[in-house]
Amino acid sequence: MSDAPEILILNGPNLNMLGVREPALYGHETLADIEAMCRERAGALGLTVDFQQSNFEGELVTLIQRARDSAAGIIINPAAYTHTSVAIHDALKLADLPVIELHLSNPHQREAFRHTSYVTTVARGTIAGFGSHGYLLALDAMSGLLERDG
Ligand code: DQA
Repeated sequence: MSDAPEILILNGPNLNMLGVREPALYGHETLADIEAMCRERAGALGLTVDFQQSNFEGELVTLIQRARDSAAGIIINPAAYTHTSVAIHDALKLADLPVIELHLSNPHQREAFRHTSYVTTVARGTIAGFGSHGYLLALDAMSGLLERDG
């Protein structure tokens, strides 16, 4: 077994459709492409990743609860639940781990209903608007956080 800290990378609803979902907005890569990029970057940073996606709010809550015991940090693209989910907010707060909020697009440039996030107040920081590259930026940021926090 590896001693490398594990990072839960959690993806919310409709992100399983990346590649065919509004590619002008979300890019042409599939979630599997992004997972492969993340695994490579994590390896270079001395981290491992548990890469997950669910379309179900309760499933995302359960995955966050499990991470409390297994992960060193959480990178989450909550997708549409960003703007609605008190349950995900509460689970992230309870997890007591460093959290990075991540979005492919920049929700603040989009419809007004995307301007509210229930995750921002429980996240150490937010990365948004850089497409799939944001996942790598989030891993770099998480690595820095873990080094600083010790
Ligand atoms: C998203 C932005 C959300 O507003 C949207 O509902 C998504 C994806 C993003 O990655 O840009 O599903 O989280």
